[in-house]
Amino acid sequence: MKLPGAPFLAYRGESLYLDGCELTALADRFGTPLYVYSQAAMLAALAPYQTALAGRDHLICYAVKANSNLAVLQTFARAGCGFDIVSGGELQRVLAAGASADRVVFSGVGKTREEMRAALRAGVKCFNVESEAELEVLSAVAVQEGIEARVSLRVNPDVDAGTHPYISTGLKSNKFGVAHGRAVSTYCRAAALPGLSIVGIDCHIGSQITEIAPYLDALDRVLDLVEAIEAQGIALHHLDLGGGLGITYTDEHPPGADELIGALLARLDARGQGHRMLMFEPGRSLVGNAGVLLTETLYLKPGDEKNFCIVDAAMNDLMRPAMYEATMAIVPCRQRPDPAQRYDVVGPVCESGDWLGRDRWLAVQPGDRLAVLSAGAYGMSMASNYNTRGRAAEVLVVGDQAHLVRQREQPAELFGGERLLP
Ligand code: LLP
Repeated sequence: MKLPGAPFLAYRGESLYLDGCELTALADRFGTPLYVYSQAAMLAALAPYQTALAGRDHLICYAVKANSNLAVLQTFARAGCGFDIVSGGELQRVLAAGASADRVVFSGVGKTREEMRAALRAGVKCFNVESEAELEVLSAVAVQEGIEARVSLRVNPDVDAGTHPYISTGLKSNKFGVAHGRAVSTYCRAAALPGLSIVGIDCHIGSQITEIAPYLDALDRVLDLVEAIEAQGIALHHLDLGGGLGITYTDEHPPGADELIGALLARLDARGQGHRMLMFEPGRSLVGNAGVLLTETLYLKPGDEKNFCIVDAAMNDLMRPAMYEATMAIVPCRQRPDPAQRYDVVGPVCESGDWLGRDRWLAVQPGDRLAVLSAGAYGMSMASNYNTRGRAAEVLVVGDQAHLVRQREQPAELFGGERLLP
């Protein structure tokens, strides 16, 4: 099997390495469960976006929600990225990581007044507004603060991204964005409101998209709107096409970022729209295959119908299998010559939904470390403290150097904010 994450993830002899670091050695040093990311893999994933957009006015805004560790954000800030945030908390993170607010776009259907105020004061590049009601509130907050809010409307192009229903966002039935049919009138409303300055238009049709076609459909639908909106005398400076490009977890074959962007640029040029400033909001495709989750095998439990491999990582550490029935590859950190057996790889949490992989062929013994692959995106950022489990530690590998970029959470921290009754 070709490992997702190659060439940065590879066996040398029996041992699995991420970039220059042996994963078993990292598990020994930092304990498990442990998230490990490769900086080189992240930068290599960013490169095709940058190359394809070179020579065009553009900004790549890394979607913070995919992996919001400060050192990851710092890596992308230093590489010239902006950021796509969806909360006041993410705003504080990107600022703490050294990003400049004028490269930050603020997305999300439910921004609070407090979050709007903080973003205005910080001076974010743009609010991606998702409804008329939000526009009214943003206008009022901007007037109150005496700071003009730059806005783009997230339009819902009503295209099917062909992905899991929980991560598809560009359909009429989704809560996201302003309906295509109402976009022009909503732009007119925005133009009439005080405190707002219209700077662009955006869409985001879903996540883990493995085809170019839905992006081209969405682009066409958005460009139709651009023409109609500009015919009303409202100028749109930038076009933000969101994120969503998929990765290979097992046998998916998504297009490369350069291929996707090449196709979008060709369509833009063909429609005489190639001069616009372009923005993208990739998350998963920049970090997903740059990270793994390391876990230790605690017990093997043979059964009549199933064999269980019980490990020390659980659904609270990695929610994707339980939540989306996502399939993520699981491989040993050190290969054994023994014959493989079929296991369900499960965690210690008290739920039958607590599994990391089903029907996996593994040669494994208690004490062996396993790596769940493609765990760099929506892994740690979705982790919880269910069962009062402290969240995992995180390590960022730079060449053969391993940096602890987040300490393991201790139980006392988990209930430190709680109070007993008098
Ligand atoms: N922009 C907006 C407005 C978004 O809502 C998202 C993701 C992105 C950009 C980045 O999308 P990406 O390039 O990462 O696909 N937890 C799910 C994925 C949820 C995606 C939510 N929005 C999962 O683990 O599959």
